[in-house]
Amino acid sequence: MKKKINIFKPYLSVTSTYVGGKSKSEVGATEKIYKLSSNENPLGPSPRAIKAIENQLHTLHEYSDYTGERFRDALEKFYDGELGEDQFVSANSGVDLLEMICRAFLDPGHESIICSPCFGPYALFTKKCGGTVIDIPLKGSAFNLNVHGILDAITDQTRLIFLANPNNPTGTHIGLDAIHQLLEGIPDHVVVVYDEVYQQFVQTTDYTTGVSLVQKGYPVIGINSFSKAYGLGGLRVGYAYSTQKLANYLRQIRRPFMLSSLAQAGGIAALQDKEHIDKTVKLVNSEKPRLYKAFDKIDLKYWKSEANFILIKPELDSRQFTEQMLEEGIMVRPMEGFGAPGCIRVTIGTSEANDAFIKALRKIMA
Ligand SMILES: Cc1ncc(COP(=O)(O)O)c(C=O)c1O
Repeated sequence: MKKKINIFKPYLSVTSTYVGGKSKSEVGATEKIYKLSSNENPLGPSPRAIKAIENQLHTLHEYSDYTGERFRDALEKFYDGELGEDQFVSANSGVDLLEMICRAFLDPGHESIICSPCFGPYALFTKKCGGTVIDIPLKGSAFNLNVHGILDAITDQTRLIFLANPNNPTGTHIGLDAIHQLLEGIPDHVVVVYDEVYQQFVQTTDYTTGVSLVQKGYPVIGINSFSKAYGLGGLRVGYAYSTQKLANYLRQIRRPFMLSSLAQAGGIAALQDKEHIDKTVKLVNSEKPRLYKAFDKIDLKYWKSEANFILIKPELDSRQFTEQMLEEGIMVRPMEGFGAPGCIRVTIGTSEANDAFIKALRKIMA
């Protein structure tokens, strides 16, 4: 008799509750369609990144940097020496880093704290590592961080706290007092994953990136992506930074030659393309109040946003609303999977796209 040994890890077969935003071809778009469903840059990729990638094409037969050192050097310069080269970890996107962090810190039985509504992969990757998700939802209609709730929920098994600032899908931010109160209260065995992929769009002064937190020595890992303001979602590039100890540890599980030479060249050039970022932020900041005004006019519930998207709550089934929008040539995203039932997230697009969205909205809500 053959001995039966189960080779499958039970926690890897959990069904994914996170469904990524669809591409235009996945929704079968044949005509002009406005994609306002994935918080992409409406102005397209950084022109400097395109040029750098084109210039790199003839070296595709060569392997890229083994450790991504060139990219880390560029990051050190970009951060003006506030962080050292060895405090950065580059990877193939923000979600890649989130997954690496879960693999680095979670064993079966460990716990991650999330604050819903939030980005779906925090829970997904925790479960894929055999971890348990503890949800301490954001509080009230303003979606405030429940600092005491989080601190009370920490156990000996807690390893990670996921915070997004600004948060996806609410667009709200975590203020300075709340962040400091939380960081002062956490024990030594807990790491805060500080997801700041929308940081370029923040307007409030009651905000900090993770840089000052890391400099103060808190166990914080800042997560950054090139998919949003830099307009390089298809390239798959991102980076994290942290204390030297945590960054060195994270790099242990980084795959060799992880960043392709094109991703590295594009990322470095995009970092230096201040003009493109400024243009993008200017567009978002001028279109946002126009959208608020249109929402106010039809009494649509929405949340003011520090990011390049707005969460709305139409009094319609969110799947039905999404389908009706698609019929009008506009892709938006229902937010059930992020813990915001009945809500829709809409990316701030070009003036033309936003006009089309407002027109469709008036029609659907009439
Ligand atoms: C809050 C948040 N974090 C991380 C990411 C990951 O971005 P990417 O994997 O494209 O770098 C996203 C993308 O939507 C996000 O909204």
